[in-house]
Amino acid sequence: MPSRSLFATQFYEGRIDDADLIAEVEASVRALAEDDRAGRGWSKANGYRGYTSYASLDDLPVRDPVFADLKRALDKHVAAFARDCAFDLGGRLKLDSLWVNVLKPGGTHSGHIHPHSVVSGTVYIAVPPGSGALKLEDPRLPMLMAAPGRTDDAPEPLRPFVYAEPAVGSVFLWESWLRHEVMPNAAKSDRISVSFNYRM
Ligand SMILES: [Fe+2]
Repeated sequence: MPSRSLFATQFYEGRIDDADLIAEVEASVRALAEDDRAGRGWSKANGYRGYTSYASLDDLPVRDPVFADLKRALDKHVAAFARDCAFDLGGRLKLDSLWVNVLKPGGTHSGHIHPHSVVSGTVYIAVPPGSGALKLEDPRLPMLMAAPGRTDDAPEPLRPFVYAEPAVGSVFLWESWLRHEVMPNAAKSDRISVSFNYRM
């Protein structure tokens, strides 16, 4: 075939298979959602349907050994993704921030990027059926202007939007500039995840 793909956008789907670790993280997240009054207040004030520690707690791996264990597992996935991306780093990427999310039914998170970071990602802890995919956007959308849409059967690398469906233990990673969106939680119970940023 004379055509080839250029300017790849890498997306990583790994797994944490340690069910005990996932259960411990879930218990810690639920405890935070009870105890972190500042985080609950921030979530309410900012229209986040549920609870996030994003703006209230910046030391979870130091505060709770369960998150230290999770960080060790994530470090390995991020190192593998950095190799997949052929990053010229001269070292390893380091965890910059890590926060938990309890998204109630009907909750969503509109399109955004993660500034000042190299690799971002989410590990999924509780994923009830229908609780929503991660929608990824072609970063070139603002340049596409008069470009035609794609056929329904277009190969995934040619689609302008891709929906990644998580399962419990899924580790999704992407480059931090890639705009993404959490689709509404249409399940009957909370969707629990832990998100993070890695930097140089
Ligand atoms: Fe995000």
